[in-house]
Amino acid sequence: MTTGIRGTVGGTPLVLLDRLFPGPARVWAKLEGFNPSGSAKDRTAAALLASALSAGTVRAGGCVVESSSGNLGVALARDCVLHDIDFHCVVDPHASRQTVAAMTALGATVHHVDSPDPATGDWLAARRVRVAGLLRELPGAVNLDQYSNQAAFDAHSTGTMREIVDQLGRAPDALFVAVSTTGTIGGCIRHLHQIGARTQVTAVDAEGSVLYGGRRGERLLPGFGAGVVPDLAGLTDVGDVVRVSAAETVAGARALARREGILPGASGGAVVAAAAGRAREHAREHDQSRDAEQPTDTVLVLHDFGTAYLDTLYDDDWVADHIGEVPSWP
Ligand SMILES: Cc1ncc(COP(=O)(O)O)c(C=O)c1O
Repeated sequence: MTTGIRGTVGGTPLVLLDRLFPGPARVWAKLEGFNPSGSAKDRTAAALLASALSAGTVRAGGCVVESSSGNLGVALARDCVLHDIDFHCVVDPHASRQTVAAMTALGATVHHVDSPDPATGDWLAARRVRVAGLLRELPGAVNLDQYSNQAAFDAHSTGTMREIVDQLGRAPDALFVAVSTTGTIGGCIRHLHQIGARTQVTAVDAEGSVLYGGRRGERLLPGFGAGVVPDLAGLTDVGDVVRVSAAETVAGARALARREGILPGASGGAVVAAAAGRAREHAREHDQSRDAEQPTDTVLVLHDFGTAYLDTLYDDDWVADHIGEVPSWP
C-alpha cells in the first residue's frame, strides 16, 4: 500500500525479450511505461519539483511553466496537482493528442506554439521563446528547465539505473538509452561510474537531431532527439551514439509489439532497432573472429508505451504518407 500516487513512481519491471532476441545473449527491457503517468518522466518530474520545493523556489499555490514534447508535461501536471501548483505547459504540434488531453484532464493549461523558430526552423527554440513570454506574464511563475536542471540526473541514477542493477543482480554489459534532454542517460552513466561498472552505454538518437554533432533535419516522431543541444548534454561523456531513422523506428516498434506483445512508444522502437543492429554486427564479428565478445546482458530502457502513438507510428496510412517504406524485420 502507498500513501498516494507519488509513491508509485519507479520500481518498474525488467523483462526478458527472448522471443525478439533469442540469444544466447540476453536482452532485457526496462518498462518505464509502468510509471503512474505512463513514462520515465514521472521520475524526472518528481525530482525537478522536489528540488525546487526544497530550495524554496516553488511553493504550494505557486506557478510552474515548462516546455515539453509530451511526457514530462503529463508527469508534471500530475505532480503539480499534489502540490497545489498551477501548471502551464508549452507544446508544439508534434505532441500527441493523447498527451495534451491528459495534461488538460489533470488541470494544466496547455499553450500551443504553431510555428517553428524562424531563425533555426526548430520547434524547441519556439517553445522556449513562449516559456520566456509566460514567465513575464504570469506573476511568480518559475521554469524548472528540464534541459539544464541536474535534478534529472539524480532521478535516473538513484532510480532507473540503480533498479536495473538490483534487478539483474549486477551491472549489465550493455545499455541502450534514447536521448533528448539527456537526463536519463546522464543519470544512468553517473550510477554506473559510482559503482565502477564497465557497461557499454549507447545513446539512441533520432536522425535529424543535433545532439552529439548530429546534422539538423526533419524529425517526425516525438520524445527523442533534439533540435537544440540542451545544457545537460555537455555534462555527460557519451562514447557511443546510434542514430535511427523514422522508418527503422517504426520497424523496431512494430517488431516488439508483434513478437513480445509490448507496444512501445517511438523512442522504444528506436532503441529496439539500435540494439538489433548492434546484435547483427556482433554476430558478423563472431563469424570472423572466435574471440569477438558478445555482451551477455543488454538492457533497453523503454521510456513509454505506444498508445499515444496509435495515430502515427502504428497507423499504416500515416506511415505511408509521412515516412514511406518500412524495412522488414530480419
Ligand atoms: C518517450 C521518450 N523517450 C526518450 C526520452 C529521452 O529522455 P531524456 O530527455 O531524459 O534524454 C524522452 C524524453 O522526453 C521521452 O519522452
